[in-house]
Amino acid sequence: MLLVLGSINADLVLEVDALPRPGETVLCPGWRLAHGGKGANQAAAAARLGARVRFFGRVGPDPWGPILRRGLEEAGVEVDGLAGSTRPSGTAVIAVDRAGENLILVASGANLDVSLDQLDAAGLGPGITLLCQNEIPLPVTLGALARARAAGARTILNLAPAASLPEGALDPVDFLIVNQHEAAALLGRRLPAEEAAAALAGPARTCVLTLGREGAVAVGPEGGWRVPALPVRVLDTTGAGDAFVGALAAGLDGGLALPEALAQASVAAGLTCERLGAREGQPDRAAVEARLESLGAPVPFTPPRAD
Ligand code: RIB
Repeated sequence: MLLVLGSINADLVLEVDALPRPGETVLCPGWRLAHGGKGANQAAAAARLGARVRFFGRVGPDPWGPILRRGLEEAGVEVDGLAGSTRPSGTAVIAVDRAGENLILVASGANLDVSLDQLDAAGLGPGITLLCQNEIPLPVTLGALARARAAGARTILNLAPAASLPEGALDPVDFLIVNQHEAAALLGRRLPAEEAAAALAGPARTCVLTLGREGAVAVGPEGGWRVPALPVRVLDTTGAGDAFVGALAAGLDGGLALPEALAQASVAAGLTCERLGAREGQPDRAAVEARLESLGAPVPFTPPRAD
């Protein structure tokens, strides 16, 4: 079973011709409300692929709370771990330009109250996968990963948004998933993809580095893999990373080997870009399976030595 401890947001999505630069005002005709939050998006992506998923997070005492809860339920996520907060529900303002690129501002609100004790009755142990991101307080995320590792669960951290971490913080992480920007924040410098993944992997840790239109690379105890991106007509890249992470976690939790889980993740991420919004384009299992062949198989490589 997959447990997701993380954020849930109401996304206010604005379609603009071009993203604003600092000091610039940009007009657009209107806005839409969508389901969001990296944690909730990843939970929904995994559930849509057939994984059994429980979500642990918090929403506020406002009209968004029940709407956000329903959105997760409709995706097939178990929400008994979704608690309340006195702060407003998390809210994101997302501008999407004509090329599908985005700019995201998040008011964390209730996500700031997500706490470690929410996992007390979660049954962490062997056979469980814990998936975390970086949109709730970092000490809670790191505490949850340590607790899960000690209990014998598999641990996955998608360190998004970017952060630098205290020494040893990655020790309890089995799978670290980052994009190039997040990898550079962790390493303190930008390296070629294979080198960055090798530098962030460990003796018992796999690092998966997502590369947008270039696909992804993974380096772990069993070597390196490159997986291509699915060729798609991009409408909106919002949530593509979340779809990748959710699908990868669903695959690993369901017993897929890393290359197969990576392929599933890459297809799910690509398909998500074909629709507007972080969740609207998330595919189900049949849609992913229908496109797996057109992806091309992941290719093994010998990772460079990490310095
Ligand atoms: O990754 C996309 C998500 O980031 C959005 O849904 C927004 O809520 C922010 O959390």
